[in-house]
Amino acid sequence: MNSEQTLLKKYAKENHVPVMFDDGLEFLINEIKTNDVRSFLEIGTAIAKTSLAIASLDPHIKIVTIERDPEMIRQARRNIAASDKEKQITLIEGDANEVEIEQQLFDCIFIDAAKAQYQRFFAKYSPLLSQNGIIVSDNMNFHGMVDNPELTHNRNTKHLVRKIRAYREYLSTLEDWETTFYDVGDGVAVTRRKKS
Ligand SMILES: C[S@@+](CC[C@H](N)C(=O)[O-])C[C@H]1O[C@@H](n2cnc3c(N)ncnc32)[C@H](O)[C@@H]1O
Repeated sequence: MNSEQTLLKKYAKENHVPVMFDDGLEFLINEIKTNDVRSFLEIGTAIAKTSLAIASLDPHIKIVTIERDPEMIRQARRNIAASDKEKQITLIEGDANEVEIEQQLFDCIFIDAAKAQYQRFFAKYSPLLSQNGIIVSDNMNFHGMVDNPELTHNRNTKHLVRKIRAYREYLSTLEDWETTFYDVGDGVAVTRRKKS
């Protein structure tokens, strides 16, 4: 982990900003390298920790990342400006369900925003995936609660857990897509088009 990532991790921990687990990020980076990803769309920027990690892999990777929370946008803009990767990262401000991004294709789409809306994000953004691209969805285990719902008694959390389970089922039943679930980080799904 480079010093920029170490500082961002420390900030996230101290300020309770949810960012991808270290081993989940390592897994994502490996997928990006293996699949020769050149264009990356992230739904849910937070403080731009993952965007900056991906940008540091290769100066040719272009990133578009969407965030709706004003404080996160402020932090992300500050962190991107403090890096030398401003030209690689475009931050779009707004709700990912509402913003329109310039029509272009992405080799990897990373879904990591409001957990209850993953299915809507998939439906809206999957047409922007390049032919051999991958869609990576984080938090498929949600701290182990998706497989063990008795771990929480909180009503809102139970609702979220049900939504994530429904999303996992949705991914598994899509006719034109195949998904592999990995027990890494907080649970990561990788979805790609079925070969015809
Ligand atoms: C888990 S954090 C993202 C962490 C980031 N991907 C990383 O790995 O460093 C989720 C972020 O998504 C944002 N978010 C949630 N729902 C959103 C939506 N509908 N549109 C845009 N951003 C959203 C939240 O404000 C939050 O900052």
